[in-house]
Amino acid sequence: MGIVPKRYSYELIKKTKDYSINIPTTDLLEAVKYCGKVSGRDVKDKFEKSRLTPVKASQISSYLIKECPVNLECKVVHTLDLEGTHTWFVGEVVAAHITKDYSKSKAIMFWPPEYRYVGDVIEK
Ligand SMILES: Cc1cc2nc3c(=O)[nH]c(=O)nc-3n(C[C@H](O)[C@H](O)[C@H](O)COP(=O)(O)O)c2cc1C
Repeated sequence: MGIVPKRYSYELIKKTKDYSINIPTTDLLEAVKYCGKVSGRDVKDKFEKSRLTPVKASQISSYLIKECPVNLECKVVHTLDLEGTHTWFVGEVVAAHITKDYSKSKAIMFWPPEYRYVGDVIEK
């Protein structure tokens, strides 16, 4: 995961040495946009402001997002500073959670500057 060092998330990952990856669905678009433009440093509770629910993880100290159908718990195993804009945190997935009714057709993809549905299958 690539994070710009000035982000609050960067500070938190450095401290906890873990992070969660939470895959949102299209109905969470407004929350995604909010989280993608407001820093946790500037608001008291980013979860509450974006109407998302924090859930305690099983293996890491960072929280998961209840509304996201896929949650991955990751422990940082490498930190790479390649002298670009982002620092790269390579994580080992130590736990994975997925809801039974998860449909990939509802997953959001960010293809700057557009949010898209994930595309059609071209081969199986
Ligand atoms: C769809 C989307 C994807 C983003 N991906 C990244 C990313 O991969 N790395 C990053 O450093 N910032 C990314 N950003 C920007 C941060 O989410 C944004 O600066 C946010 O306010 C950081 O919050 P924080 O300071 O609480 O960490 C993204 C923004 C959007 C809207």
